[in-house]
Amino acid sequence: MSNALKDYLDFCQNRVERALESRLPNENLLPQKLHRAMRYTVLDGGKRMRPMLTYCTGKTLGIAPEALDGAACAVEFIHVYSLIHDDLPAMDDDDLRRGKATCHVAFDEATAILTGDALQALAFEILANDPSITATPEGRLKMISILTKASGSQGMVGGQAIDLESVGTRLTLPELENMHIHKTGALIRASVNMATLAKADLDPDVAKKLDNYAKCIGLSFQVKDDILDEESDTATLGKTQGKDKDNDKPTYPALLGMAGAKQKAQELHELALVNLKIFGSEADLLRDLSLYIIQRDH
Ligand code: IPE
Ligand code: IPE
Ligand code: MG
Ligand code: MG
Ligand code: MG
Repeated sequence: MSNALKDYLDFCQNRVERALESRLPNENLLPQKLHRAMRYTVLDGGKRMRPMLTYCTGKTLGIAPEALDGAACAVEFIHVYSLIHDDLPAMDDDDLRRGKATCHVAFDEATAILTGDALQALAFEILANDPSITATPEGRLKMISILTKASGSQGMVGGQAIDLESVGTRLTLPELENMHIHKTGALIRASVNMATLAKADLDPDVAKKLDNYAKCIGLSFQVKDDILDEESDTATLGKTQGKDKDNDKPTYPALLGMAGAKQKAQELHELALVNLKIFGSEADLLRDLSLYIIQRDH
């Protein structure tokens, strides 16, 4: 990882940690168990890649991080909710996440379901009301629309449904790509597109390039996740290694072989960079982030 990216990543991680903490209900508030579970799953863990993308897109466009805290928190809350539900026995049945017990193991299944539900609602409450968001009322509505679509049946939840339906089957490459674009790509794309909305009067061609960049890294992110599931180890990942094979999931390494999957990740990274050609050095963090996504070890 480049030094510039490392420094900005540290800055964003600290920033978003505080922003998330201040937006979560206090655990002394009733119902305490639910609020404890929300804080347990959100705080102190995760790479915060989606908030990072929101802030880096903002940096490219000259938008101050203060104006992006609401959007960054909203997408991370949706992401954590998706992880809590993804880990449930009815879905991937995982007991380790971000190096600690999954929500349904640390608490119980009903609490895990409700924690995900509550985080999802909190995300949209933030987009509707958070004072950090300086967009016009119309811009705010567009942000809500982007995140709802990215989260729902034509976004992340739709991808998760395809994932579960596909267990034990052999997907074609376009089908696998479609699943990944939805289950993981949609929220990554929303992380970028919510930031572009914070810029008044942004040239639509610039917004389109950034959206195309986000599509590429949204897919490369899940290709790399599949690769790590096979190649990495549980301690480094903070989640159980080898679960895709155990659960008979269709993945890029399963379909293309490990070399083919790595080649695909590299091609997507190169395509991501092509979409940033209209920018100068102000987009270097986005370039570095795309490379980090395919080179990361967890
Ligand atoms: C894991 O996401 C689930 C996928 C969508 C691939 P991350 O790898 O971003 O998980 P955290 O947030 O760092 O724990
Ligand atoms: C999860 O994909 C995608 C979402 C949570 C929406 P995976 O099931 O591959 O994620 P991990 O590997 O459990 O983090
Ligand atoms: Mg899953
Ligand atoms: Mg999973
Ligand atoms: Mg995975």
